[in-house]
Amino acid sequence: MKKHLITIDDLTKNEIMSIMEQGKAFKEILSRPIKKIPTLRGKTIGLLFFEPSTRTKLSFELAAKRMSADVLNFSASTSSLKKKESIKDTIMTLEAMKIDIYVVRHGFPGVPYIVANNIKGSVINAGDGAHSHPTQALLDLYTIWEKFGELKGLNVTIVGDVKYSRVVRSDINILNKMGANVTLCTPKTLLPRTIEKFNVKYTFNLKEAVKNADVIIGLRMQKERQDSGLIPDEVEFNHFFGLKPEIVANARKNVLIMHPGPINRGVEIDGEVADSENSVINEQVTNGLAVRMSIFYHFVEG
Ligand code: CP
Repeated sequence: MKKHLITIDDLTKNEIMSIMEQGKAFKEILSRPIKKIPTLRGKTIGLLFFEPSTRTKLSFELAAKRMSADVLNFSASTSSLKKKESIKDTIMTLEAMKIDIYVVRHGFPGVPYIVANNIKGSVINAGDGAHSHPTQALLDLYTIWEKFGELKGLNVTIVGDVKYSRVVRSDINILNKMGANVTLCTPKTLLPRTIEKFNVKYTFNLKEAVKNADVIIGLRMQKERQDSGLIPDEVEFNHFFGLKPEIVANARKNVLIMHPGPINRGVEIDGEVADSENSVINEQVTNGLAVRMSIFYHFVEG
């Protein structure tokens, strides 16, 4: 195992399966009346979130607490960054407090690398710009693996804002690695120019994209990252690319509906689909806790 988890490229197929198996063990522990284990007693985990987050931040925090670590919460909006302190000096300040694992989210791609180059411990990327979100990909894979057992040959369709999504890049990477077939569906204006390098099929026709899908993953509209004018409006986007019951009806009967969250109801996914029996959006959150415990377990140094 490498020291840092910045992208899915940092993991081999065997290491990914080891994270899955250990995640399953932690999920069992989390179903017990007493959910706390001593694995990270004496370790300190710094949560450095320079960009908003609900799921990722809270599940990393709870994972650390369940494993008995001390947790240091850094929030950019209430820090000395507001007094013009640089990211590097902020990291040096935290490093002086002897942090063992840094969990980093930032709006710019590459910031987790900068942190990794300036600290002694490990860095886990909790999402950097439109670049990478490896822990989301691991929990997405876990959710699919738990339901299907076998990953090779599964048909996974990913729909929505492909251009600005970090989740799609990490999901494609992990699904390709595990032998699943990935199809993307997005408007032409939200298709990355480098799409031919992604090793996936793509189409602009949603009905065609979901045909024979075992899994459909909706992507959030990344409004905070988008240039203006890429889609006419959200109503039209929903008409052609929104996950609606009549669209999902073209997929396999037991298709899993997934979304990393937060969801924009009525934009990339209709409420009826998000709340349907096929939806595992809340299970993804539950699994995220077990998978992030497993990630800590694999990346903490003895
Ligand atoms: N999926 C995800 O990263 O959600 P948050 O932005 O709430 O962490």
